[in-house]
Amino acid sequence: MENNDRGQWGSKLGFILAVIGSAVGLGNIWRYPYLLYTNGGGAFLVPYFIALFTAGIPLVILEYGFGHKFRGSAPLSFARGNKKFEWLGWWPSVTSFIILSYYTAILSWAINYLFFSFGQTWGSDTNAFFFGEFLQASSGPFDISGMRWPIFIGITVIWAINWFVSYNGVSGGIERLNKVLIPTLLGIMIIIVIRGVTLPGASLGLNKLFTPDWSKVKDLNVWIDAYGQVFFSLSLAMGILVTYSSYLPKKSDINNSAFITAFSNSGFEFLSAIGVFGILGFMATSQGIPIEDVATQGIGLAFVAFPKVFSLMGPVGTVFGVLFFLALVFAGLTSSISLLEAFSSAVIDKSGASRKKVITITSIVGYLVCVIYATGAGVFVLDIVDAFINSFSLVTVGLLEAIILGWIIGADKIRKHTNSVSIYSIGKWWEVMIKFVTPAILGVMLITKIINEI
Ligand code: PHE
Repeated sequence: MENNDRGQWGSKLGFILAVIGSAVGLGNIWRYPYLLYTNGGGAFLVPYFIALFTAGIPLVILEYGFGHKFRGSAPLSFARGNKKFEWLGWWPSVTSFIILSYYTAILSWAINYLFFSFGQTWGSDTNAFFFGEFLQASSGPFDISGMRWPIFIGITVIWAINWFVSYNGVSGGIERLNKVLIPTLLGIMIIIVIRGVTLPGASLGLNKLFTPDWSKVKDLNVWIDAYGQVFFSLSLAMGILVTYSSYLPKKSDINNSAFITAFSNSGFEFLSAIGVFGILGFMATSQGIPIEDVATQGIGLAFVAFPKVFSLMGPVGTVFGVLFFLALVFAGLTSSISLLEAFSSAVIDKSGASRKKVITITSIVGYLVCVIYATGAGVFVLDIVDAFINSFSLVTVGLLEAIILGWIIGADKIRKHTNSVSIYSIGKWWEVMIKFVTPAILGVMLITKIINEI
């Protein structure tokens, strides 16, 4: 049954930008730089590129080929490939929705900080401001009292944008948004990097970032981090790439697109690593403290360390702050749109209901769930959900996906399909990756994670 309400990309470029939009997110900006730094600096590039070629790119081709061949969201594609495995499509789709519910909460913080950065209202103690005044983090996960109104307003704005864009369809909404935001984001990043590396002390940060520590290459955990990053960063195992490629016209170059999107994502990661460590080097130098004490990631980097640096910079700091939070919002928005799409598309395919209706209902429910994060329980719930999904769900889905698609639905069939539409063919090596190498690596990752947890 072909649902007429399934959209289609207006151009191959639109598709590629939308996938880059999904891939380039908070992970590129606030996770990768620190990962590179703590896992051996320049030496980390070895596990990173091996992970990219043995799991990242093969899985991107697999998900593209799968969605394109069966022309459906993850559950529909699985159902068409082998009815028994429809559930394996629902798992990542539902996970997408759960991630979406807190990813949008973080985005609402970023949008608030975008406004704060005009007047640098975070003051001199940025840590106390963030946790105390802004989040008003309470003492436990069960305190859902007390609405944090600025966060609530941020959440409302983000969800209104998500709804509006998706409501307008694949090419009329998602493609259009990405065509504007992704080039703008690239421009902003380039400005941040150029100014960042010319700050006094930047070279200190960059030296620390890239100086290779080869002993790390022998550490299993470093390899696990490399695979984990490639996985999360390329938005794999979420049903996103399957869904996005199902909107491509029948004749579209799959293999080529896979390489372009993977390399663009890595390019964004390098850019942000250089920008972030240039700025951290400046902070360490101007404060006279070692870089080890300022290097950090995630929430601590974006909402505590960076606001502090922006304050130290004088008037330039205002511009820097605005650009940085704008980058965070743009990168995050395009990722959140892809999460919403993976879930909604699954529901549209299953129910046959109209896109407009499904997007509207999903947005209302998602918005209501997200509001929990604007209460006292916010950060606690967020940490728990995030840790569970990242350490468990993604790897498990990736593993099952490689096994079921590789062995049961057939890697050979998918390879034949992608080669039939692509200019450059991929060789037999790809089947070996999908059937043996990728599952073996993901299996080791999963076992290690389980052992580490208990
Ligand atoms: N790839 C995004 C990032 O690097 C995160 C993301 C993961 C987005 C999964 C959507 C789905 O931040």
